[in-house]
Amino acid sequence: MHNAVEIITAKRNGVALSAEQITWMVNAYTTGEVADEQFAALAMAIYFRGLDDAELLALMTAMLNSGSTLDFSDLGKPTADKHSTGGVGDKITLPLTPLVASYGVAVPQLSGRGLGHTGGTLDKLEAIEGFQVDLTEAHIRAQLAETGGVICAPTGELAPADKKIYALRDVTATVDSLPLIASSIMSKKLAEGTGTLVLDVKTGSGAFMQDEEDARQLAATMVALGKEFGVNTTAVLTRMDSPLGYTVGNGIEVEETLEVLAGGGPNDVVELTLTLARHMLQGAGIDADPAEHLVNGKAMDTWRAIVTAQHGAPDAPLPTPSHEHTILAPASGVLSKLDARSVGEAAWHLGAGRQYQGQSVQATAGIRLHVKPGDAIVAGEPLFTLATETPERISVAEEILQNAIDTADAYSAPELIVDVIR
Ligand code: URA
Repeated sequence: MHNAVEIITAKRNGVALSAEQITWMVNAYTTGEVADEQFAALAMAIYFRGLDDAELLALMTAMLNSGSTLDFSDLGKPTADKHSTGGVGDKITLPLTPLVASYGVAVPQLSGRGLGHTGGTLDKLEAIEGFQVDLTEAHIRAQLAETGGVICAPTGELAPADKKIYALRDVTATVDSLPLIASSIMSKKLAEGTGTLVLDVKTGSGAFMQDEEDARQLAATMVALGKEFGVNTTAVLTRMDSPLGYTVGNGIEVEETLEVLAGGGPNDVVELTLTLARHMLQGAGIDADPAEHLVNGKAMDTWRAIVTAQHGAPDAPLPTPSHEHTILAPASGVLSKLDARSVGEAAWHLGAGRQYQGQSVQATAGIRLHVKPGDAIVAGEPLFTLATETPERISVAEEILQNAIDTADAYSAPELIVDVIR
């Protein structure tokens, strides 16, 4: 018989926990036998003391086994999935899912909603008229067989321990802990039953792991966990100092996705989409250059099939905002900083994200960037266009954006892809 106080005390004192102790604690917390304050104390002890490899594996496994798991091995197709640790303007799941699916790979992309200053894939997709993100397992399975791709919310039974632990971490200052992030992400992803997993691990001002060495260690830890479970796992370390693309928000990011699927779109969004697609296709055993299906329309066809299968209207116009406000450059120079976190926070204030759990977001809220780092800017020319349904929030967003930029005489933006960790 285990005892929560003994387990918390041991971790607090730096004593390694046994797999049995960790499994008991996770199960007892999920069922309500261990109280919030006890698991919060354990999370804080883990935050300061860390976990060794065996403890981390036990934690992730207990979270994974806390609910049901999916198995798509009967579909007769390879499965591949990607997960991003969260960024600003990070709409990559939207073009990537149909692109990879268009090569005959099943892509069960179970996604999330916005978290803090980072956007959520589901919030973006709901800007499309009629689009449904809550699907049954039977629907997911049928859609994967038919279209190859699905982008939806996790079904209720996947890794319930993570849902509870994540909500607790959010309010106890224990989010940015490497073992807690790694176990949270990997328990969910391994529950999805994918054969190949590509992780987009962000580093920089807009990332949860801002420091590159921390992000690198997180990536290596998650790759090791995936491999332990027989999943072909690769992590791509990518820079998140400035937003991806020229759009940050919900509907506005769908608009940019359509540009990419039509063979255009911003260079950074295309580069990251193709890089992740290459790793997913490689993992699935498919030898192809994914750039082809962006140019010949096959990825767009698959996107339309996915949207239609999820009750969305692919040809319906995206909603337009009732209020817009453009900010002009105060001086000329070369843009040397466009801080991702500030842009994410400003978009959040405009209504693209939530202020409390369960709040609905504004489909039209967001920020259009007119310039990217390295571009020459001219005093009086547009820098940002802010969009919202709640114009009283524009002044706060404008104030945040004032500190988001810097200029220099010359600047060349660093490479987007930092490293690949296998
Ligand atoms: N994303 C997750 O799913 N979990 C974390 O802990 C952090 C980011």
